[in-house]
Amino acid sequence: MREAPVGIFDSGFGGLTVARKVMQILPQESIVYFGDTLRCPYGPRSLEEVDGFVQQIGSWLVAQGVKLVVIACNTATAAGLAHARQVFDVPVVGVIEPGAHAAAHATRNQRVGVIATKATIESNAYTRAIRSSDSGITVFSTATPRFVEIAEQGVRMAEGPIENYTSLASKVYIRPAFQEIAQEYLEPLRRCGIDTLVLGCTHFPLLKALIGGVVGRNVVLVSSATEVAREVCGILVERGATAPADHVPEHRFFTTGTDVDEFRRFGSRVLQAPITEVSHVEL
Ligand code: DGL
Repeated sequence: MREAPVGIFDSGFGGLTVARKVMQILPQESIVYFGDTLRCPYGPRSLEEVDGFVQQIGSWLVAQGVKLVVIACNTATAAGLAHARQVFDVPVVGVIEPGAHAAAHATRNQRVGVIATKATIESNAYTRAIRSSDSGITVFSTATPRFVEIAEQGVRMAEGPIENYTSLASKVYIRPAFQEIAQEYLEPLRRCGIDTLVLGCTHFPLLKALIGGVVGRNVVLVSSATEVAREVCGILVERGATAPADHVPEHRFFTTGTDVDEFRRFGSRVLQAPITEVSHVEL
């Protein structure tokens, strides 16, 4: 049981930003990563439909013998976390509460912005979670649906060696067409005087340089990946379920997409580490 892998899933590549942090904080843990590329994006779908995907993928991961499931997608967390916790007999970690707590902790002027997919914003899950951490915070949220497509496009357009796209210095997304869209989405939030902005989609840490360029470097950009990895660590320690320190991890990657080679190449860029093998899965 202690050597069993941690299951992580997302609609595509975005959850790899979370997988990367889990690998950094828990280097001895094996990971089974599942990207539902065929049905990406989840953002424009109804919460009921995405909840169905969460139950289906969660069952698949549990059947692979994972000891914990991370829903590394905000849309899927908003749609299916509570249901998944009732159904699965392994712990299930979502990405919304950890990000909301981090934002409540980071803000100094009690004005927090949230950007996410349409489904996540409409679920109101972030506003609820942030205000349950601190009811004095005013939350300004806006859906930024095209950021998912931009994040995926940028990774496809990037060339050369794997670089850190989540760095504020990355130039990959600094292109006029992307900047125009970012300006349109973020300028109203900037004018609200926020000092903290939650990147409420696991694709968005890739766009930090683009987003930071519009909202200003004094606005703290919060993503939940590190907090999620800490929560995973805390749960495993509490249950005595961490892999032994000398365990050599074995990571496995699966996609519902048909182009496994594309997933391998672009996924390596998001993970910032080479992915050697990806298998296709049909659910
Ligand atoms: N990565 C997903 C999230 O965190 C969004 C991508 C999608 O729309 O599928 O919400």
